Amino acid sequence: MPGTGYRIVERARLDARNTFGVAATAPLLVEATDAAALPELFGYAMLREGPVLVLGGGSNLLFAGDPTGVVLSLATRGIALLADDGRDAVVRADAGVGWHDLVLWTLGHGLCGLENLALIPGTVGAAPIQNIGAYGVEVRDCIHAVEAYDREHGRFIRLDAADCGFAYRDSRFKQAPDAHVVTAVEFALSRTFEPRLGYAGIDEELQAMGIDGAPRASQVAEAVIRIRRRKLPDPAVLGNAGSFFKNPIVPAPQAEALAGAHPGMPLFRGAGDDTRKLSAAWLIDQCGWKGQRDGDAGVAASHALVLVNHGHASGAQLLGLARRIAASVQARFGVAIEPEPRIVGDAW
Ligand code: EPU
Repeated sequence: MPGTGYRIVERARLDARNTFGVAATAPLLVEATDAAALPELFGYAMLREGPVLVLGGGSNLLFAGDPTGVVLSLATRGIALLADDGRDAVVRADAGVGWHDLVLWTLGHGLCGLENLALIPGTVGAAPIQNIGAYGVEVRDCIHAVEAYDREHGRFIRLDAADCGFAYRDSRFKQAPDAHVVTAVEFALSRTFEPRLGYAGIDEELQAMGIDGAPRASQVAEAVIRIRRRKLPDPAVLGNAGSFFKNPIVPAPQAEALAGAHPGMPLFRGAGDDTRKLSAAWLIDQCGWKGQRDGDAGVAASHALVLVNHGHASGAQLLGLARRIAASVQARFGVAIEPEPRIVGDAW
């Protein structure tokens, strides 16, 4: 495969390309430095016909086995201001830009909207796939449009946010992972700061930082960074993929019955009036998993929702632990919890 705008590595180790730090090998890794190379790349049968795993920062997947097809990584790094009327702005970032780098770039340019999403690992291209969210904000709140390569029709498309099928940790890109390669994301941001401080902990953190009056967006980002550093293990130090399970959404009557039987159980609003979101962390914690380990596969001591690799755990060992955790939550509470990261090389 000769060409410009990409490079190819055969039998590429992926250990440093997944934040769990588990061992995995790609038969073929294609790194595109220019999204314009995608039509040429998808002209090759191996990409056109085979499964292609698009790898961002590797922060939301678990290699339970080796990927069978081509692994495609976008190493594109541009950020540009597409529009700015002094009040509202549209920022376009390439898929390969680091998510937190983008958050800092927008704050540095006086643009608000992404501050609650500071320090989330991963890339811009991965952000819309699972509609990343934290501290009361989901990225869909700020997404203007998603640019992607449509594999079936062999062309670049631009989808308005309303057409992306966003839901809690979900999107049309996650539902049909082989249909598109996200190439860039456009964000609608504002120069007027409307703080979203409702989520437990942010107000307290701002106070601990000595900020009493109205905070600036950069100060909210700083508060979020401090909370995350305290609660979530740094993947550079202890391999992990953030929350391993989604918070389960259950029918309201089931949630109310559980809350009645378990005083202290957190209960959040669900997708509508007839559903409630439960805290997977709380359910797992109640089953006694926090801080447990089985060999090098473990549950973080600081947060029950985070599985960790203490050194040399394999993806299969971590998946086995996750299945045991889910089975115990099912047995004790009658609630099914599902993984948030994509499982590669096996099925849930
Ligand atoms: N809790 C426990 N035990 C624990 C940790 C938490 O019982 O070990 C209970 C507490 O009652 C706490 C509640 O769970 O109040 C919620 O915990 P937390 O505020 O940490 O939020 P979460 O629901 O566990 C979600 C996201 C995180 C995001 C935080 C903050 C999901 C799956 N996870 O976690 O996102 O950072 O809210 O907004 O929705 C990620 O997706 O990778 C991620 C880290």
